[in-house]
Amino acid sequence: MIRNSEEAAIRVVQITDTHLFREPGANLLKLNTQDSFEKVIELIQAKEDAIDVILATGDIAQDASVEAYMRFAQAMQDFDAPFYWIPGNHDRRRVMQEIEMYKSAFGGSAQFANWQIILLDSSVSGEVHGLLGAAELKRLVTNLEASAKNPEIEHCIVCLHHNPVPGSAQWMEGIGLQNDSEFLALIDKYPHVRAVVYGHIHQELDFVRNNVRYFCTPSTCIQFKPKVEDFTLDNVNPAYRWFDLLPNGEIRSAIERVTGYEFEVDHSSTGY
Ligand SMILES: [Fe+2]
Repeated sequence: MIRNSEEAAIRVVQITDTHLFREPGANLLKLNTQDSFEKVIELIQAKEDAIDVILATGDIAQDASVEAYMRFAQAMQDFDAPFYWIPGNHDRRRVMQEIEMYKSAFGGSAQFANWQIILLDSSVSGEVHGLLGAAELKRLVTNLEASAKNPEIEHCIVCLHHNPVPGSAQWMEGIGLQNDSEFLALIDKYPHVRAVVYGHIHQELDFVRNNVRYFCTPSTCIQFKPKVEDFTLDNVNPAYRWFDLLPNGEIRSAIERVTGYEFEVDHSSTGY
């Protein structure tokens, strides 16, 4: 399949919140996360013909086990594209970084044509909420300053695990990025930032704030229902997101959900 006028676009695939376990047979709220991850991988293989880069935006593992990270990374080998990953609240940065053969996945930033992708670590050890520490904020500023001056780069997307804008469900209050206003002020300061991309709240979002697109992508396993008071699982299937980053700064994007398959989850659960 040739994407005609979009041939020059950078095709990005985002996979998020896979929540894999050391044991491939393990379940999260009754759902086998390895199984649902594999269904999403099969969907990507069926739908995508030329991926330029894969972004895995955290909660790769539920139990921060080397085995879970290895299974994720090995699945990425089926694609002829580099992948980058960042930690979520369930991950351990140190474990991910120490996997020697996938060290390049911890790149922090990458350039594709006139687009820069910056990946930030918003995880806080032992906490569900996120925070961008002084070093990560400094790295963000350094990257944005450099790309603003680089004539080869015209557009930028910034990725992190935690939601920098509050989720619509009441129970989500307090689980997002704690220093959200500091982060958003930086995003607003650099007009070449076109999008902020995240996961964490296991749902589809695509909105504009101060001329910047914000994208949240469903998990490859359980989904969280928006606009509710208490923790509620949503009855929609796992998904991934694709982006086309066009040379003129335009972004086309949509999610693709697994179809023809019924995933059983524990709707009586009060948390995850
Ligand atoms: Fe998650």
